[in-house]
Amino acid sequence: MRAHYTIGLKTHLMLQAARPEVVLEVGAQNGGNTRQLLSAAEELGFRLITIDDNPCPKDLVDTEVEWIEGLSFLEIPKLEDESIHFCFIDTDHNSWTVTKEIKELKPKIGKDGVVIFHDTSVYHNTNGISGAYACSYSYPHEDIKSDPRGYGEAIEEELSNWSCIATTEVSCGAQAYRRPA
Ligand SMILES: C[S@@+](CC[C@H](N)C(=O)[O-])C[C@H]1O[C@@H](n2cnc3c(N)ncnc32)[C@H](O)[C@@H]1O
Repeated sequence: MRAHYTIGLKTHLMLQAARPEVVLEVGAQNGGNTRQLLSAAEELGFRLITIDDNPCPKDLVDTEVEWIEGLSFLEIPKLEDESIHFCFIDTDHNSWTVTKEIKELKPKIGKDGVVIFHDTSVYHNTNGISGAYACSYSYPHEDIKSDPRGYGEAIEEELSNWSCIATTEVSCGAQAYRRPA
């Protein structure tokens, strides 16, 4: 996993302790973190689901990852309720998208489930905005600009009743939140 996860949050130790049945990765690009999660899946026996607006990289097509090509906030609602035990969010780093992702994700997270967000320091009170989606869906520039909060601020507000269990400044920052009991 990336330095913000391995060194910063020690997510491998978290995964070893949590022993999740299903891990969801949202935002994977060319699968750099996915490959590392696949090794962890082999060691710890979890099912790995990845959502990204890009197609699955060729070398990952015949592996155990279940790659869903689509938009996070449209694909997360299709997952079973309380079926996800560990989740990594790393999409386009803005308050509008992450608010939609959190809203859709909350009912999908199981008991003691953990959600980890990347880039929380670099985009704490600002927002990342991509030019376009890799798929045909039009990019919501105006909606994104309409939310005045920064990415990190929105996460803190939307998850104010969850516990922030770990935070790091390594490699643009990351935060881990645990679902309330
Ligand atoms: C920062 S990259 C992910 C990097 C990856 N986590 C890693 O560590 O290698 C963000 C990815 O999320 C995708 N993305 C952005 N917004 C998305 C959305 N709403 N739904 C699905 N994928 C999205 C981008 O196209 C890109 O592939």
